[in-house]
Amino acid sequence: MSPNIDLENGIGLDMRLITKRFPGVLAADQVNFSVRKGEVHGLLGENGAGKTTLMSILCGLYMPDDGEIFLGTERNAVEKVNIGSPREAIQLGIGMVHQHFRLVQSHTVAENCILGLSDKSIIINHTEIANRIAAIGERYQMHIEPDSYVWQLSIGEQQRVEILKMLYRNADVLILDEPTAVLTPQESQALGITLRAMAKEGKAVVFISHKLDEIMEITDRVTVLRNGCNVKTVETAETDKEKLANLMVGRNVVFSVERPSFKARNPVLEVDGVTAQNDKGVDAVSNVTFSVKGGEILGVAGVSGNGQQELAEVITGLRRSTEGTVKVGGINLTNRTPDKFIFNGVGHIPGDRIGVGLAGNLSVSDNLIMKAFRGGVVSRGIFLRNEAVRDYSDRLINDFDVDTPDRNTPVRNLSGGNQQKAILAREIMARTEQGTRDNGLLVAVQPTRGLDVGATEVVRRLLLTQCEQGDAILLISDDLDEILSISTNIAVMFSGKIMGIVDGDKADISEIGIMMAGGDKSAL
Ligand SMILES: Nc1ncnc2c1ncn2[C@@H]1O[C@H](COP(=O)(O)OP(=O)(O)O)[C@@H](O)[C@H]1O
Ligand SMILES: [Mg+2]
Repeated sequence: MSPNIDLENGIGLDMRLITKRFPGVLAADQVNFSVRKGEVHGLLGENGAGKTTLMSILCGLYMPDDGEIFLGTERNAVEKVNIGSPREAIQLGIGMVHQHFRLVQSHTVAENCILGLSDKSIIINHTEIANRIAAIGERYQMHIEPDSYVWQLSIGEQQRVEILKMLYRNADVLILDEPTAVLTPQESQALGITLRAMAKEGKAVVFISHKLDEIMEITDRVTVLRNGCNVKTVETAETDKEKLANLMVGRNVVFSVERPSFKARNPVLEVDGVTAQNDKGVDAVSNVTFSVKGGEILGVAGVSGNGQQELAEVITGLRRSTEGTVKVGGINLTNRTPDKFIFNGVGHIPGDRIGVGLAGNLSVSDNLIMKAFRGGVVSRGIFLRNEAVRDYSDRLINDFDVDTPDRNTPVRNLSGGNQQKAILAREIMARTEQGTRDNGLLVAVQPTRGLDVGATEVVRRLLLTQCEQGDAILLISDDLDEILSISTNIAVMFSGKIMGIVDGDKADISEIGIMMAGGDKSAL
């Protein structure tokens, strides 16, 4: 095989017919992928499409089962390369910023940059390193203090250190794996500028994402992966969001979920001055006050890890609060058990689908009745009524369109989207059957994370239907687009506090971004 070199000046990278199998999964199926010097190349695909796997092969973490890689850099003419380890990848000028950072928290920025550099001939001169970091920062429009300790930095700043580390090692090919997932809109924008600057300086940049807007904004070309296959590579200027979405999911996609415009009713959830600690005993939620009315979706926006998870747990009885009160339908449920919350009409769609949400080894049917049996729908006394169980689960499978061979299939065999539909079916119906409809509260945490575009629409629609029928919905999501598309009102969380609550109709994305970074809304 010879490289498909349209690589300008012979600089860039070409992966030819790459195949990678994991037990039971073909993660890359004869994929061709090439990046040129001077371009930002988007790698787009849904969760599980094989993006991380393909790039992990490039950076020496996985060996391909088949295929070849050709590389040309400023230092070496185009040649076939074997990338046997991350160290070899770095030597070849390939660097990757992973979804989970690999910095040493107790070291400074400068120390992290030189960590692992094997060239012992360089006498480590602090001023020289600091100067070099400053120069890189200036060249790529990315400000970083070389003497800051990593633990002092925000997630966005830590990501810049990871990028800096690659540039410090003179990487020619830079790969960023879903870098904007942990950033505020402003930080994402700044990252876009840095990536453009890198391309302009002659680097080849691979930008992995499943978000269409940023792919359209930042990239020169985009390659779409689906099920481990390269579907197509296109010029970004010659495509649009709809076309890319269709390539990504393999069928037509309409973007059409509408924000509710229902009349909000009485407050269902009232949270007043709640403070709660995380698992390390540090305050993760501080003095939080808000309420959610029936017929309202309150979206909680924020960079993940700012107390959203802990807040959801307090509101569903899974975590104790140290101060404040939580009322549902006027009843004080502060620090009561999850049972009491369920009994009072609180449904919970947890962020952790298998684990908290479902019992993977149990059947679809067992999972669906898990909460209903308390209300006497499928039981008499302590005995389950088999026939009622069958009817009830078949009805839910049908109504919520859960795609499963039958009700006895273990729920872990279902796709993510269908697992999520099963959770929604259970959480929504358990309350309806118990006649607690008027006080209904649904706490939805990352309800569409990892779902394909189609399943995402179904889940959002189900939330809207519940809202229309009078439920109060607390929607906690890292996906700002999701929050913006269906929330009646939007609360922004930062460092355990609510920085402000804005009207969903009038929400201004840059205003929300500033609050996500800890800025004060009133200071605008
Ligand atoms: N180390 C691994 N072992 C087994 N299967 C894996 C491993 N890494 C990824 N996979 C599987 O390979 C497929 C592609 O995954 P991945 O490359 O992470 O996709 P993406 O980054 O596009 O979300 C998925 O089905 C995933 O479950
Ligand atoms: Mg990935």
